[in-house]
Amino acid sequence: MPKILVTGGAGYIGSVTTHYLLKRGFEVIVVDDLSRGHRENIALSGVAPANFHQMRLQQTGALTPLLSGVDAVVHFAAYIAVGESTREPALYYSNNVGGTLSLLEAMARQNVKRLVFSSTAAVYGDPVKVPIPEDARIGPVSPYGDSKAMVEKVLAALDRYRGLKNVTLRYFNACGAEPEANLGEAHDPETHLIPLLFKAAVTGEPIMIFGNDYPTSDGTCVRDYIHIGDLAAAHVAALDHLMGGGDSHAFNVGTGVGFTVMEVLKAVEKVTGKIVPYRIADRRDGDAAELVADSSQLRSKLKWEPKRSGLEEIVGDAWRYFEEMSAVKG
Ligand SMILES: NC(=O)c1ccc[n+]([C@@H]2O[C@H](COP(=O)([O-])OP(=O)(O)OC[C@H]3O[C@@H](n4cnc5c(N)ncnc54)[C@H](O)[C@@H]3O)[C@@H](O)[C@H]2O)c1
Repeated sequence: MPKILVTGGAGYIGSVTTHYLLKRGFEVIVVDDLSRGHRENIALSGVAPANFHQMRLQQTGALTPLLSGVDAVVHFAAYIAVGESTREPALYYSNNVGGTLSLLEAMARQNVKRLVFSSTAAVYGDPVKVPIPEDARIGPVSPYGDSKAMVEKVLAALDRYRGLKNVTLRYFNACGAEPEANLGEAHDPETHLIPLLFKAAVTGEPIMIFGNDYPTSDGTCVRDYIHIGDLAAAHVAALDHLMGGGDSHAFNVGTGVGFTVMEVLKAVEKVTGKIVPYRIADRRDGDAAELVADSSQLRSKLKWEPKRSGLEEIVGDAWRYFEEMSAVKG
């Protein structure tokens, strides 16, 4: 049974993917410092308490023995908020690049030669062509996107000089929840659209929509929304590829279909039966008008297909999770 080390497994995408890896029959060890994740996600994902290690990736010495006998690493641990990264760039480079370099050093010490890396559509910055293919220009416009692009460069060098086989998954907008494990999105602070729309619907406090004068159908930004279950399945496919001796590759993970902010807002109103109050604010720096993935390579090379990424299924799963969490918190 392959042994997989997951970094950031107490977070949103890491916990759902861990659940999928365990279902697939892999043995999973999780490392997370809980700086941004949730301890309860460990149990919900199905990881045994003894296989969870609360630790910063930067602790190379403590991390190294955990990698003994590990077949592959799935690396989610990072800070993820674009806005925060513009206010605290050093924090983002130090955590996202520094943490990854420490992980790579620990992997090298234990001769672990397979890695799946969480990258982002933010590495493309403002794309010249949409849908965006993987060979589009890399031109991040935030320290967050830049920190991911830097790691991608390091991985290319380690593949070339050290034989580190890696699959980089550039996610578009991860969203939705996994009802079978009661796992979903609960970032703090939350910066992602769907949970913020729920919050506005429930509290009556208007959500800010940044810009309605983009060259899109209704003037609001277009994004490609990918259900967390489909995203987790892409990681299983990436691991199968690497375990089968597959080569390094970067893949976009999206559906190829975009929705405007207003379309998502309408879907939230339909699913929740509530009005979502909103205000239009100025555009934000660095927001591209349209980010939609060309994921044809992931479909053809890894035989992956999105199965649950219809907008209403995404919003429905996310809403049930949001309601349950609200009930738990009281
Ligand atoms: N959520 C999205 O829409 C999205 C889109 C593109 C890419 N990504 C990438 O996916 C990954 C996971 O995102 P998420 O939404 O699950 O975020 P998250 O914040 O829910 O999870 C990240 C986890 O990593 C942990 N962590 C952070 N730095 C650490 C460190 N130095 N050492 C140990 N643990 C650390 C946090 O405690 C947290 O549990 C990130 O790498 C992110 O950049 C996310």
